[in-house]
Amino acid sequence: MPTPRTFVAYLLTSFVKEANPTGNMANKKIALVSGGNKGIGFEIVRGLLQAGCRVYLGAREAAKGQQAVAELAAAGDVLFLELDIANQATLDAAAAHLQREEGHLDILVNNAGINAAGDGAPSTAAVHSVAQVLQTNLLGTLAVTQAFLPLVKQAAAGRIVNVSSPLGSLTLSSQNDWGLLGYSASKAALNMLTVQLAHELRDTAIKVNSAAPGYTATDLNGFAGTDTPAQGAAEAIWLALLPPDGPNGTISSSTGPLPW
Ligand SMILES: NC(=O)c1ccc[n+]([C@@H]2O[C@H](COP(=O)([O-])OP(=O)(O)OC[C@H]3O[C@@H](n4cnc5c(N)ncnc54)[C@H](OP(=O)(O)O)[C@@H]3O)[C@@H](O)[C@H]2O)c1
Repeated sequence: MPTPRTFVAYLLTSFVKEANPTGNMANKKIALVSGGNKGIGFEIVRGLLQAGCRVYLGAREAAKGQQAVAELAAAGDVLFLELDIANQATLDAAAAHLQREEGHLDILVNNAGINAAGDGAPSTAAVHSVAQVLQTNLLGTLAVTQAFLPLVKQAAAGRIVNVSSPLGSLTLSSQNDWGLLGYSASKAALNMLTVQLAHELRDTAIKVNSAAPGYTATDLNGFAGTDTPAQGAAEAIWLALLPPDGPNGTISSSTGPLPW
């Protein structure tokens, strides 16, 4: 059974498809999804394609990105963009490419993320593993956001979605034995990026929100998750397509708002 939020996202994408059946309208939304070659990111790309967007599928390995683009080609207007969120040169080149090709970016989904062997409970987590997760999930995402923000500002009403996690909730962390200090801290810090950027841009039409997928069966957890990647993608798709009166500076899962 779809959750209420998933159902609303479906209606929204159906509506956009109705309004834009050919995908050729001049006002087609331009989207970029980092880590789009597999897992939740792949399904976010698919959902945005089904909503009629032109989607740049960001991937750090060209072969994997091209393969994913080939798999999604039938779903809509999808293009590969090399993007290693830990490599500033690829970010600069990708932003320059988008500037030349599109001149703006309507939707930025910061989905790429990692966990690291050696991460663990605060008493035992390897410091270098914690640093590695923070480097990618926080600093890499910050670098992507800074690289593409000038393009998002050129859009009529930009949307930035940071793919966070319930494990980044301070409230939920005080009630659960998750034992992944680096990963949780990286997502809590990512939520701070969401809140501060939303506040900084509060006088613009841009909205910045965190999406928190549930426990999703992907490479990240050895496919142990209980949700499908499509379920994991639903909230990010919803937040990427928010109407003007949608939320700003929030964190939510497909069942509704989450505590910070
Ligand atoms: N799975 C869950 O239960 C769950 C729950 C809540 C939140 N999340 C979040 O959802 C997001 C997607 O994770 P997933 O579960 O779909 O895991 P996944 O299948 O492992 O996908 C992660 C994606 O991020 C990419 N990536 C990692 N480091 C990158 C870098 N430096 N530059 C560019 N891309 C990079 C990966 O690329 P490669 O293929 O090249 O490695 C892959 O495309 C992550 O932010 C994760 O923290 C996951």
